[in-house]
Amino acid sequence: MVKTTNRTAIFFIRLITSTFVNGYTILTLYFKLMSIKDLYILGIESSCDDTSAAIIYNGKVLSNVVAGQKIHEAYGGVVPELASRAHQQNIVPVVHQALQKANIDKNQLSAIAFTNGPGLMGSLLVGTSFAKSMALSLDIPLIAVNHMQAHILAHFIEDENQKIPPFPFICLTISGGHTQLVKVTNYFEFEILGETTDDAVGEAFDKTAKILGLPYPGGPLVDQYAQFGNPNAYKFSKPKVGDLEFSFSGLKTGILYFIQKKVKENPQFIEENLNDVCASVQRTIVEILMEKVKNAVKHTGITHIAIAGGVSANSEIRKTLKESEELYSWTTYIPKFEYTTDNAAMVGIVGYLKYLHHSFSNQTITARARMSVDE
Ligand code: KG4
Ligand code: ZN
Repeated sequence: MVKTTNRTAIFFIRLITSTFVNGYTILTLYFKLMSIKDLYILGIESSCDDTSAAIIYNGKVLSNVVAGQKIHEAYGGVVPELASRAHQQNIVPVVHQALQKANIDKNQLSAIAFTNGPGLMGSLLVGTSFAKSMALSLDIPLIAVNHMQAHILAHFIEDENQKIPPFPFICLTISGGHTQLVKVTNYFEFEILGETTDDAVGEAFDKTAKILGLPYPGGPLVDQYAQFGNPNAYKFSKPKVGDLEFSFSGLKTGILYFIQKKVKENPQFIEENLNDVCASVQRTIVEILMEKVKNAVKHTGITHIAIAGGVSANSEIRKTLKESEELYSWTTYIPKFEYTTDNAAMVGIVGYLKYLHHSFSNQTITARARMSVDE
């Protein structure tokens, strides 16, 4: 009898303890799940000449601070050594500002996402080392982000005024370093359908601006002058490459020879015709891009079309793509202006998506100058 009572007591003690232990586990799980509802990701971008930091809270942007580097203007292009030095000066104040604007403390951060490639090695190293040290000191996860994927996934930043593309969709990624047609199957699956065989489209814009005597980066200026010009004033020949391939080096040379010839005939040619030249070059580039998108739709049957990257800030490509909705029955996705050129919000959103998939990096991660969008 005594033995039975003892056994019953032990059974109940075990039951209570185990309930407590399980209860504790369930509670911990509950709080963990609750805390997943509060994900604060610090995004850091330093792949080229913009130092940027952003705070993403559950997929929404709380802050997105971008410090550009004026220093390169005088050189007509990005000087890698100077870019790296400017990142070193900017990174601490930019991260500090991003936290301040988001009104959070660094101890509230859930993870740090940073661009580890592709880009300029010296520039990437600044963001990479900073992110690694900060994650280590705060003892929070570190998330490496592919810059090209970030441009594309910027479309998943939660914003009530923006449509989010459904999978699969085609993204025309157009920046200062890349020109690609990418099939996006899910957040982490990318397939390059076609890309440039030589220069990027951003380079074509910047080179045109340079020929016209405009400062670097000239893409936005070509866009501005083009607003007042006639897009049919001059004709430039388009490259003959594969259906889904791009080429801009021939166009660049064509523009150079055209301007040199015209200036020889009339030294005032540029001043007198700046708007028309910009509008005509811009129209030619946009026609080339649109032709390739049409080919990609033909090849894949996918009619959800997004654009991304610095050149997607261009007003003509934005307008033409929008018009294609009615013309070809496509659904198009045009990023908010502030998420087109390099920014850390796009890095932060990838960080958020990777966090949800537990895709973390460890402290051995390094910067990589070359990296494909599908890596
Ligand atoms: O994505 P991004 O900021 O940096 C890279 O990852 O390369 O793209 C920069 C490029 C530059 O070539 C710049 O001239 C171009 O984007 N860009 C534009 C416009 N805004 C930026 N090109 C044409 N029209 C614009 N409005
Ligand atoms: Zn970029």
